[in-house]
Amino acid sequence: MTIHIGAEKGQIAETVLMPGDPYRAKWAAETFLTDATCINETRGMLGFTGTWNGNPVTIQGSGMGMPSMSIYANELIRDFDVQTLIRVGSCGGMQPKVKVRDVILAMTASTVATPSSTMFRELNFAPCADYGLLSAAAGAAQDRSVDLHVGGIYSSDTFYDERPDLNEQMTRHGILGVEMEAAELYTLAARYGRRALAVLTVSDHLQTGEALPAAERERSFADMIEIALNAAFA
Ligand code: HPA
Repeated sequence: MTIHIGAEKGQIAETVLMPGDPYRAKWAAETFLTDATCINETRGMLGFTGTWNGNPVTIQGSGMGMPSMSIYANELIRDFDVQTLIRVGSCGGMQPKVKVRDVILAMTASTVATPSSTMFRELNFAPCADYGLLSAAAGAAQDRSVDLHVGGIYSSDTFYDERPDLNEQMTRHGILGVEMEAAELYTLAARYGRRALAVLTVSDHLQTGEALPAAERERSFADMIEIALNAAFA
Protein backbone atom coordinates (compact mmCIF):
# COMPACT_ATOMS: atom_id res chain seq x y z
CA MET A 1 0.00 0.00 0.00
CA THR A 2 1.07 3.56 -0.69
CA ILE A 3 -0.27 6.88 0.52
CA HIS A 4 -2.71 7.17 -2.36
CA ILE A 5 -3.16 3.58 -3.59
CA GLY A 6 -4.63 1.05 -1.17
CA ALA A 7 -3.58 -2.06 -3.12
CA GLU A 8 -1.15 -4.76 -2.09
CA LYS A 9 1.93 -5.04 -4.26
CA GLY A 10 0.84 -8.09 -6.25
CA GLN A 11 -2.56 -6.58 -6.99
CA ILE A 12 -1.33 -4.16 -9.65
CA ALA A 13 -0.31 -5.41 -13.11
CA GLU A 14 2.83 -4.38 -15.00
CA THR A 15 0.57 -2.68 -17.54
CA VAL A 16 -1.67 0.17 -16.39
CA LEU A 17 -4.22 2.19 -18.37
CA MET A 18 -4.94 5.58 -16.84
CA PRO A 19 -8.15 7.49 -17.60
CA GLY A 20 -8.53 10.78 -15.74
CA ASP A 21 -12.01 9.88 -14.49
CA PRO A 22 -12.20 7.04 -11.91
CA TYR A 23 -15.68 6.08 -13.14
CA ARG A 24 -14.25 5.62 -16.62
CA ALA A 25 -11.73 3.24 -15.04
CA LYS A 26 -14.65 1.27 -13.58
CA TRP A 27 -16.56 1.22 -16.88
CA ALA A 28 -13.48 0.17 -18.88
CA ALA A 29 -12.59 -2.59 -16.42
CA GLU A 30 -16.15 -3.95 -16.43
CA THR A 31 -16.38 -3.71 -20.23
CA PHE A 32 -12.97 -4.96 -21.38
CA LEU A 33 -11.34 -6.99 -18.59
CA THR A 34 -12.04 -10.52 -17.42
CA ASP A 35 -12.41 -11.06 -13.66
CA ALA A 36 -11.86 -7.37 -12.86
CA THR A 37 -11.64 -6.59 -9.15
CA CYS A 38 -11.44 -3.21 -7.47
CA ILE A 39 -7.93 -2.71 -6.06
CA ASN A 40 -8.14 0.92 -5.01
CA GLU A 41 -10.81 3.15 -3.52
CA THR A 42 -8.60 5.63 -1.67
CA ARG A 43 -10.00 9.15 -2.25
CA GLY A 44 -12.47 7.61 -4.68
CA MET A 45 -9.71 7.27 -7.29
CA LEU A 46 -10.88 3.84 -8.39
CA GLY A 47 -8.51 1.21 -9.77
CA PHE A 48 -9.28 -2.28 -11.10
CA THR A 49 -7.15 -5.26 -12.06
CA GLY A 50 -8.20 -8.08 -14.37
CA THR A 51 -6.99 -9.72 -17.55
CA TRP A 52 -7.29 -8.93 -21.24
CA ASN A 53 -6.61 -11.83 -23.63
CA GLY A 54 -4.98 -13.54 -20.66
CA ASN A 55 -2.68 -10.60 -19.92
CA PRO A 56 -2.88 -8.92 -16.48
CA VAL A 57 -3.99 -5.28 -16.75
CA THR A 58 -4.78 -2.57 -14.20
CA ILE A 59 -7.00 0.39 -15.04
CA GLN A 60 -6.38 3.17 -12.53
CA GLY A 61 -7.83 6.70 -12.50
CA SER A 62 -5.24 9.48 -12.61
CA GLY A 63 -7.41 12.45 -11.68
CA MET A 64 -7.17 15.74 -13.54
CA GLY A 65 -3.97 17.69 -14.04
CA MET A 66 -0.30 16.91 -13.78
CA PRO A 67 0.03 17.14 -9.97
CA SER A 68 -2.61 14.39 -9.61
CA MET A 69 -1.19 12.29 -12.46
CA SER A 70 2.27 12.69 -10.90
CA ILE A 71 1.17 11.22 -7.58
CA TYR A 72 -0.39 8.11 -9.14
CA ALA A 73 2.33 7.55 -11.75
CA ASN A 74 5.10 7.96 -9.17
CA GLU A 75 3.52 5.40 -6.85
CA LEU A 76 2.69 2.98 -9.67
CA ILE A 77 6.25 3.14 -10.99
CA ARG A 78 8.27 3.33 -7.77
CA ASP A 79 6.20 1.20 -5.40
CA PHE A 80 4.31 -1.16 -7.71
CA ASP A 81 7.02 -1.58 -10.37
CA VAL A 82 4.65 -0.80 -13.25
CA GLN A 83 6.42 -0.99 -16.63
CA THR A 84 3.86 0.34 -19.13
CA LEU A 85 1.58 3.31 -18.47
CA ILE A 86 -0.95 4.47 -21.06
CA ARG A 87 -3.08 7.53 -20.52
CA VAL A 88 -6.50 7.29 -22.18
CA GLY A 89 -8.28 10.61 -22.14
CA SER A 90 -9.72 13.56 -23.96
CA CYS A 91 -8.19 16.70 -25.39
CA GLY A 92 -9.20 19.93 -27.06
CA GLY A 93 -8.41 20.14 -30.79
CA MET A 94 -6.00 22.93 -31.82
CA GLN A 95 -5.70 22.49 -35.62
CA PRO A 96 -8.38 22.84 -38.30
CA LYS A 97 -7.51 19.36 -39.63
CA VAL A 98 -8.14 17.82 -36.17
CA LYS A 99 -11.84 17.09 -35.86
CA VAL A 100 -13.97 16.25 -32.86
CA ARG A 101 -13.92 12.45 -32.27
CA ASP A 102 -10.53 12.03 -34.00
CA VAL A 103 -7.84 10.19 -32.04
CA ILE A 104 -4.46 11.74 -31.31
CA LEU A 105 -1.36 9.78 -30.31
CA ALA A 106 0.86 12.22 -28.43
CA MET A 107 4.39 11.85 -29.81
CA THR A 108 5.57 14.74 -27.61
CA ALA A 109 3.97 16.83 -24.87
CA SER A 110 4.96 20.50 -24.57
CA THR A 111 4.32 22.36 -21.32
CA VAL A 112 4.84 25.60 -19.51
CA ALA A 113 5.83 23.51 -16.48
CA THR A 114 5.31 20.08 -14.97
CA PRO A 115 5.69 18.99 -11.32
CA SER A 116 9.19 17.87 -12.44
CA SER A 117 10.20 21.24 -13.90
CA THR A 118 12.03 22.51 -10.82
CA MET A 119 14.58 19.68 -11.05
CA PHE A 120 15.43 20.50 -14.68
CA ARG A 121 16.27 24.14 -13.82
CA GLU A 122 17.46 25.79 -17.06
CA LEU A 123 16.93 22.63 -19.15
CA ASN A 124 13.91 22.56 -21.42
CA PHE A 125 13.29 18.81 -21.27
CA ALA A 126 11.28 17.35 -24.19
CA PRO A 127 8.85 14.68 -22.90
CA CYS A 128 8.14 12.06 -25.57
CA ALA A 129 6.19 8.83 -25.96
CA ASP A 130 7.67 5.34 -26.13
CA TYR A 131 8.16 4.64 -29.83
CA GLY A 132 7.18 0.95 -29.66
CA LEU A 133 3.87 1.79 -27.98
CA LEU A 134 3.29 4.70 -30.34
CA SER A 135 3.79 2.68 -33.50
CA ALA A 136 1.74 -0.27 -32.19
CA ALA A 137 -1.07 2.14 -31.23
CA ALA A 138 -0.97 3.70 -34.71
CA GLY A 139 -1.39 0.22 -36.21
CA ALA A 140 -4.27 -0.61 -33.85
CA ALA A 141 -6.00 2.69 -34.67
CA GLN A 142 -5.69 2.05 -38.40
CA ASP A 143 -7.22 -1.43 -37.93
CA ARG A 144 -10.25 0.29 -36.38
CA SER A 145 -10.50 2.90 -39.14
CA VAL A 146 -10.28 5.66 -36.58
CA ASP A 147 -9.28 9.12 -37.91
CA LEU A 148 -5.81 9.36 -36.44
CA HIS A 149 -3.25 12.11 -35.89
CA VAL A 150 0.24 11.53 -34.50
CA GLY A 151 2.27 14.49 -33.30
CA GLY A 152 2.87 17.01 -30.55
CA ILE A 153 0.31 17.98 -27.94
CA TYR A 154 0.26 20.59 -25.17
CA SER A 155 -0.16 19.61 -21.50
CA SER A 156 -1.67 22.63 -19.80
CA ASP A 157 -2.23 23.39 -16.12
CA THR A 158 -5.39 25.34 -16.80
CA PHE A 159 -8.66 24.16 -18.28
CA TYR A 160 -10.16 27.65 -17.97
CA ASP A 161 -7.33 29.23 -19.84
CA GLU A 162 -6.61 32.98 -19.86
CA ARG A 163 -3.72 32.90 -22.34
CA PRO A 164 -5.16 32.84 -25.87
CA ASP A 165 -1.76 34.11 -27.10
CA LEU A 166 -0.07 30.96 -25.82
CA ASN A 167 -2.65 28.73 -27.52
CA GLU A 168 -2.07 30.72 -30.72
CA GLN A 169 1.66 29.99 -30.57
CA MET A 170 0.96 26.29 -29.96
CA THR A 171 -1.36 26.16 -32.96
CA ARG A 172 1.17 28.04 -35.06
CA HIS A 173 3.79 25.43 -34.16
CA GLY A 174 1.64 22.48 -35.17
CA ILE A 175 0.45 21.33 -31.76
CA LEU A 176 -2.54 19.05 -32.34
CA GLY A 177 -4.44 19.30 -29.07
CA VAL A 178 -4.44 20.35 -25.43
CA GLU A 179 -4.92 18.18 -22.35
CA MET A 180 -3.57 18.26 -18.81
CA GLU A 181 -1.54 15.14 -17.90
CA ALA A 182 0.72 13.62 -20.57
CA ALA A 183 3.90 15.68 -20.13
CA GLU A 184 4.39 14.63 -16.52
CA LEU A 185 3.58 10.99 -17.33
CA TYR A 186 6.21 11.01 -20.12
CA THR A 187 8.76 12.71 -17.88
CA LEU A 188 8.34 10.13 -15.12
CA ALA A 189 8.51 7.24 -17.60
CA ALA A 190 11.77 8.68 -18.96
CA ARG A 191 13.22 9.09 -15.45
CA TYR A 192 12.49 5.50 -14.47
CA GLY A 193 12.99 3.78 -17.82
CA ARG A 194 9.35 2.79 -18.33
CA ARG A 195 7.09 2.89 -21.39
CA ALA A 196 4.42 5.58 -21.67
CA LEU A 197 1.91 6.81 -24.22
CA ALA A 198 -1.13 9.10 -24.27
CA VAL A 199 -4.06 8.09 -26.49
CA LEU A 200 -6.49 11.00 -26.71
CA THR A 201 -9.91 11.59 -28.24
CA VAL A 202 -10.72 15.10 -29.38
CA SER A 203 -13.71 15.96 -27.15
CA ASP A 204 -13.95 19.64 -28.06
CA HIS A 205 -12.32 22.11 -30.39
CA LEU A 206 -10.69 25.36 -29.35
CA GLN A 207 -11.19 27.07 -32.72
CA THR A 208 -14.63 25.84 -33.77
CA GLY A 209 -16.21 25.47 -30.31
CA GLU A 210 -17.61 22.10 -31.43
CA ALA A 211 -17.98 19.44 -28.71
CA LEU A 212 -18.43 15.67 -28.80
CA PRO A 213 -22.04 14.77 -27.88
CA ALA A 214 -22.27 12.87 -24.59
CA ALA A 215 -23.66 9.77 -26.33
CA GLU A 216 -20.57 9.52 -28.54
CA ARG A 217 -18.09 9.91 -25.69
CA GLU A 218 -18.55 6.32 -24.56
CA ARG A 219 -17.91 4.92 -28.04
CA SER A 220 -14.78 6.97 -28.54
CA PHE A 221 -13.57 6.03 -25.06
CA ALA A 222 -14.07 2.36 -25.98
CA ASP A 223 -11.97 2.88 -29.15
CA MET A 224 -9.16 4.34 -27.06
CA ILE A 225 -9.19 1.48 -24.58
CA GLU A 226 -8.98 -1.05 -27.41
CA ILE A 227 -6.14 0.87 -29.06
CA ALA A 228 -4.28 1.09 -25.74
CA LEU A 229 -4.71 -2.62 -24.91
CA ASN A 230 -3.62 -3.71 -28.38
CA ALA A 231 -0.59 -1.42 -28.22
CA ALA A 232 0.44 -2.63 -24.77
CA PHE A 233 0.50 -6.29 -25.83
CA ALA A 234 1.54 -5.93 -29.49
N1 HPA B 1 -8.17 22.05 -22.29
C1 HPA B 1 -7.53 21.25 -21.46
N2 HPA B 1 -7.81 19.96 -21.33
C2 HPA B 1 -8.80 19.46 -22.08
C3 HPA B 1 -9.51 20.25 -22.98
C4 HPA B 1 -9.18 21.61 -23.09
O1 HPA B 1 -9.77 22.37 -23.87
N3 HPA B 1 -10.44 19.45 -23.58
C5 HPA B 1 -10.29 18.22 -23.06
N4 HPA B 1 -9.30 18.21 -22.15
